[in-house]
Amino acid sequence: MRIEDLSQLGYVRVAYPEALRKLVERAMLGWQTFCALPQSEKKRCSKEGDRDADFGYMMRSDHDQKEQFHVSLKDTFELKQRSCCIRDPHAVEFVIATDMLIYRIQPLIAEFAEHVERVYGVVGLKSDVLESAADWTFRYLHYYGTEHLLADEHIDRGGFTLHLYENEPGGEYLDFDFVWRPFPIDHAQTVIFPSLGLQHRSQSALKALWHRVLATPETAQNGRFALVVFIDFPGFRCQNIRKQFGNRPAGFNYHLDADAFEAVCAQ
Ligand SMILES: [Fe+2]
Repeated sequence: MRIEDLSQLGYVRVAYPEALRKLVERAMLGWQTFCALPQSEKKRCSKEGDRDADFGYMMRSDHDQKEQFHVSLKDTFELKQRSCCIRDPHAVEFVIATDMLIYRIQPLIAEFAEHVERVYGVVGLKSDVLESAADWTFRYLHYYGTEHLLADEHIDRGGFTLHLYENEPGGEYLDFDFVWRPFPIDHAQTVIFPSLGLQHRSQSALKALWHRVLATPETAQNGRFALVVFIDFPGFRCQNIRKQFGNRPAGFNYHLDADAFEAVCAQ
């Protein structure tokens, strides 16, 4: 892991263990089966009517055309209870599989946090990250839009983001020269990049990376399925990222020092 890439490229590549990849692929098959269920069944895994619930299945069509499913350790008990109402057990296997994924990604996450702690002087990051495992959020995504952009340019909530799966290319990041470039993702490697929490915690030595998702002819036809993990730790919480940062230009945070960044976050 070349951790210095974080301040030079904006992200770091991490080796993708085959055992982890296989688990992820199985979970994604379950997620695709779930997406094909009637809406009335999918809603059994959601807190319908509460748009701020941030729980289980969520349909989002106001900004990006997508449906998503959040799984985290703290919600596992309730999610498993609700999953029992789904008639096809294969469709909810990914909820159970996520339990194991949390432990499988732990070594990667620990290694990343340890390197960041040492190289960028972020004291206590590794223990804070590992103690927050119950709050790590696995986001299963299904984009079904046909327009040029499947996901608008944005920065992520939480501390940092691990990419685990996408069935098609199209993910791009904004580099520090403000040029959009494709993420280098393949079966043997994936990426971790900082979000707002890590910019805050590193006193702006690391920058929350802007990214977006483009449609391809394949995704326009068959949709785009993806899995990312938001790694949280205490100290920074952005309740409504769109409201707080949505009207700021992409990359606005790249040249902010710690004080300027905190001033923006406080607004
Ligand atoms: Fe994102």
